[in-house]
Amino acid sequence: MFLDSPTSTYGLILLGTALYLVNWFKENVPALGPTAPFLSYWGAIRFMTNCQEMLAEGHAKFDGGPFRIATRRYWHYIVSDPQLLDELRRAPDDELSLIEATTEALELEYTMSTAVAHDFYHIPIIRTTLTRNLGTLSGEIYDEICNAFTHYSTCIEWTAVPALDTMMQVVARTSARIFVGLPLCRNQEFLDISINYTTDVFKTGLTLNMVPAPLKPIVNRLINKIDKTVDRTLVLLNSTIEERRSMMEQYGDDWQDKPNDLLQWLMEAAEGIEREPRALAARVLIVCFAAIHTSSMSFTHALYHLAARPEYMKPLREEVEAIVAEDGWSKDSLQKMRKVDSFLKECQRLDNARTVFLERKALKDFTFSDGTFIPKGSHVSTSKMATHDQTKYYDDPYIFDPWRFSNMPDETGEGTKHQMVNTSMEYLPFGAGKHACPGRFFAANELKSMMAHLVMTYDIRMEKPGEIPPGFCFSSNILPNRTAKVLFRKRKD
Ligand code: HEM
Ligand SMILES: *[C@@H]1O[C@H](CO)[C@@H](O)[C@H](O)[C@H]1NC(C)=O
Ligand SMILES: *[C@@H]1O[C@H](CO)[C@@H](O)[C@H](O)[C@H]1NC(C)=O
Ligand SMILES: *[C@@H]1O[C@H](CO)[C@@H](O)[C@H](O)[C@H]1NC(C)=O
Ligand SMILES: *[C@@H]1O[C@H](CO)[C@@H](O)[C@H](O)[C@H]1NC(C)=O
Repeated sequence: MFLDSPTSTYGLILLGTALYLVNWFKENVPALGPTAPFLSYWGAIRFMTNCQEMLAEGHAKFDGGPFRIATRRYWHYIVSDPQLLDELRRAPDDELSLIEATTEALELEYTMSTAVAHDFYHIPIIRTTLTRNLGTLSGEIYDEICNAFTHYSTCIEWTAVPALDTMMQVVARTSARIFVGLPLCRNQEFLDISINYTTDVFKTGLTLNMVPAPLKPIVNRLINKIDKTVDRTLVLLNSTIEERRSMMEQYGDDWQDKPNDLLQWLMEAAEGIEREPRALAARVLIVCFAAIHTSSMSFTHALYHLAARPEYMKPLREEVEAIVAEDGWSKDSLQKMRKVDSFLKECQRLDNARTVFLERKALKDFTFSDGTFIPKGSHVSTSKMATHDQTKYYDDPYIFDPWRFSNMPDETGEGTKHQMVNTSMEYLPFGAGKHACPGRFFAANELKSMMAHLVMTYDIRMEKPGEIPPGFCFSSNILPNRTAKVLFRKRKD
C-alpha cells in the first residue's frame, strides 16, 4: 500500500541505496568470504559448520588485524589487538552489550520469560554472596561430590562410564546442593530438569532463529516447552519456598537454622513479581543454565586428557595427598592445589568450550581507538586463535602442558596469580571485565574438588588407550565428545 505511487517506490530505493552507501563508506573492516547479500550465506553456513577453521584463516589472512564474517542475520567482527580487546571489555553496556548478544542468539525474550530476561538480580548474588560463602560451603560441595561419584559410578573393577552424562549428573547435584540444598539436590527429577532446561533453551532459541520475526510468537507457542518445565520445577520447589517464607515472616533475622543457599539468598533479595514462587523457580533454572553445562563440559575435557595420559595421575595425587594430610579439606587447601588448578586451566585454554570470547552486540555504531568501525546491529568478539593460541603469550601454544601454569613463578607467594579464576587478556574462558563470569570462583572450587576427589579415589583410562575422543564443533562451540566412555576402577595402589 505504501508503494502506491512510483515516486515513493523510487524514494525508498534511493533511501535504501543511500543508507547502504553511507555504511559502505564507513565500513573499513575486510570480510572473510563473499560479501554480496546472497553469497554471504555461504560464509554463514561455513561459520556454523567450520568456525574454527574460518577464524584461523581470518587471523592468518589479515595478519592479526580485524576482519568480519557473515552470519545469517548479522556481521560478526573479530578483533585481536590487545588494545582493542581492552576497549571491548571496557565498553559500556549501552554501546556493546553481552546480554543483547545472548538475547539475540538464544531468543531470550521467548526462552526465558521477559521479566527474567530483563532483571539480573541473581548476578550480584552469585558474584558476591556465593563467592564470600565458599569458605563455609566448601565442605558441603566436597560432601556432595563424594556422594554423587559413589552414586553414579561404583566401580570396583574397570567399568566403562559415559563421561559427559555422568559428569553432568555430578555437577548438577553438586550445584543443586548449593542452589537449593538437601534433600532436593538428590531428587532425580529436579536434576534432570536442571540439566534439560539448558538444552531446551538452546534448541528452542536456535529454532526460533530460523523463523521470520512476525511468525516467532506463533512458532514459539507450538514448540516452546520451557513454560511447562518452569511449572514442573515450581511443583518441586513450592513447598520449600512456602515453608521458608513462613519461617522468614515468623522469625525474621532470628531464624536459627536459616538455610545458606542460593534459593534463600534469592528469596531475601527478590522484589516485586520476582518474589512469586514461579519467578523464583525460573530464576533457579537460569542459574542452572549458566552453571551446569559450562562446568560439566569443562570437566569432561579435563577427564579425557587425564584418562588418555594416566601418567599425569601421579603428580596430581601426590599434590592432593600432601595438602590434605597437612590441612584437611577446605577452601584454603583447594587454593594450594596449584597442579590441580593448572591442569584444569590448561584444559580450558586449549579445549575451551568456545572459540570466540567477549561476544557483544553493537547497540549503536561503535568505533575503536584505531578507527575500526562496528556498525549498529553487528556482533563483535575476539577469538581463541588471537589469544590462547598465540606464541607471544604461550610457549608452544598447541601443546598440552598440564603444568604450564603451576610452573610459572608467583612472586606474590600466594600461589594465586596464575590460577584459573584470574582472568586476563591472554586467558578468556571466563570472559573479562565487568561481565567476567561471576560464578567462576564457585566453578573453580567445584571443579578442583571433583578433580582432587577423582585422583584420590579412582584409577582411570580411556577405552582406546591414549586417545582423546573427537569432540563436536558447532558454530563457535567446541563440545567434548558426548558419547565416549572412560574406564573407572577403585584405586589400587
Ligand atoms: C567452567 C564453568 C564456567 C565457564 C567456562 C563460564 C563462562 C562464562 C563466560 C565466558 C561468561 C561471559 C563473560 C564475558 O563475555 O565477559 C559467563 C557469564 C556468566 N556466568 Fe559463567 N561460566 C562458568 C560457570 C558458571 C557458574 C557455575 C555460574 C553460576 C553459579 C555462572 C554464572 C554466570 C553468569 C550469571 C554470567 C553472566 C554475567 C553477566 O551478564 O554479567 N557461570 N560465564
Ligand atoms: C531430559 O531429557 C532426556 C533426553 O531428551 C529425556 O529422556 C528425559 O525424559 C528428560 N527428563 C526430564 C525430567 O525432563
Ligand atoms: C504452592 O503452595 C501454596 C501453599 O501451600 C498453594 O496455595 C499453591 O497452590 C501451591 N502452588 C503450586 C503450583 O503447587
Ligand atoms: C592475573 O594474571 C595476570 C597475567 O598473568 C597477572 O599479571 C596479574 O598479576 C594476576 N592478577 C592477580 C590478582 O593475581
Ligand atoms: C565420539 O567418540 C567416539 C569414539 O569413542 C566416536 O566414534 C564418535 O564419532 C565421537 N563423536 C563425535 C561427535 O565426534
